[in-house]
Amino acid sequence: MPDNNPLEELESLRVAALGELDTIPDEVGLDAWRVAYLGRSGKLTQVLRSVSALPPAERPLLGAAGNKAKVSLEEHFGARRTAINNVRLDALADDAIDITLPGRQATVGRLHPSTMILREITEIFRGMGFQIVEGPEVERDYYNFEALNIPKDHPARDMFDTFWLDANKDAEGRFTTLLRTHTSPMQIRYLEAHQPPIRVVVPGTCYRYEATDAAHEWMLTQIEGLVIDENISFPHLKGTLESFVHRFLGPGLETRFRCDYFPFVEPGAELSIRWGDRWLEMLGAGMVHPEIIEAAGLDPERYTGFAFGMGVERFAMLRYGIEDIRNFYQNDLRFLQQFRGVS
Ligand code: FA5
Repeated sequence: MPDNNPLEELESLRVAALGELDTIPDEVGLDAWRVAYLGRSGKLTQVLRSVSALPPAERPLLGAAGNKAKVSLEEHFGARRTAINNVRLDALADDAIDITLPGRQATVGRLHPSTMILREITEIFRGMGFQIVEGPEVERDYYNFEALNIPKDHPARDMFDTFWLDANKDAEGRFTTLLRTHTSPMQIRYLEAHQPPIRVVVPGTCYRYEATDAAHEWMLTQIEGLVIDENISFPHLKGTLESFVHRFLGPGLETRFRCDYFPFVEPGAELSIRWGDRWLEMLGAGMVHPEIIEAAGLDPERYTGFAFGMGVERFAMLRYGIEDIRNFYQNDLRFLQQFRGVS
């Protein structure tokens, strides 16, 4: 402090500081101001420190004035901060946002029951040594039918009411692409690219142009299984499926294995489970037809295999006690929100 008139110097420092304070627009400026005047090396702090260097007689006067100036600056600082904050709140209010309202809880999505069951089923097969692979939903007639021993005009095509795509036609004007009716085309696709030992499951959505009822939808999820190796026989098929059903649905269910016909297996079978007072067909299966093994370039005397295709929604119906399959894809949240956290 200059020797002459330290009180006046102090007062002009205070007035200058307050003048500056009035022009500060925001929190950042406020902070800089506080450091400049009231911080450890701030201008007012230095004045207060210099009091001890004064002759003893002058100390009380300047000390008291200094403290008063400090209180004054602190008070104005607080008032200015409140004013700046109020301006910010007013700006928010102009945007019609009531920031005092409690926040809205965000809705957390959840997995569809078919997806949960599908994951659970594939995990069981993974544990049994199966690999999981996927294939296309838009499929060629060749893979969906012909290569599976279902040539054009074969009556077995009636088993699969088909959604054809009008994008491609053959020379005779027949459609050649479709929405796959089952996951079995992946048997052929996989065999084209892989050698035994083969042990895969193929989850995927399938489509059928059929009338719906409590057990039939036009969109369904299947899981295909394919095993090909030396010395594979029917008991392997039966053992694998029984073991799966017990792991997934628990023991004590009434199951029924019966002969069934699919052109790509020989012999063929279907597995049903008791559902109330009737039987619900869960899957089709069988020993891979020797012609399919041969068409894959393998010796059917040496290699044999089994395959199955199961309906995922049907298993979910049994697991959750759902009585009508049409609930699955109607997107009614009251239905969907009941299923959580299976896997
Ligand atoms: C097939 O789709 C054969 N590809 C299964 C197969 C694979 C046999 C490998 C042999 C070897 P199917 O049309 O029966 O077969 O269907 C198999 C399962 O899918 C049925 O048991 C049922 O669980 C389910 N499913 C079939 N159609 C529907 C439908 N419209 N709605 C719901 N689930 C269905």
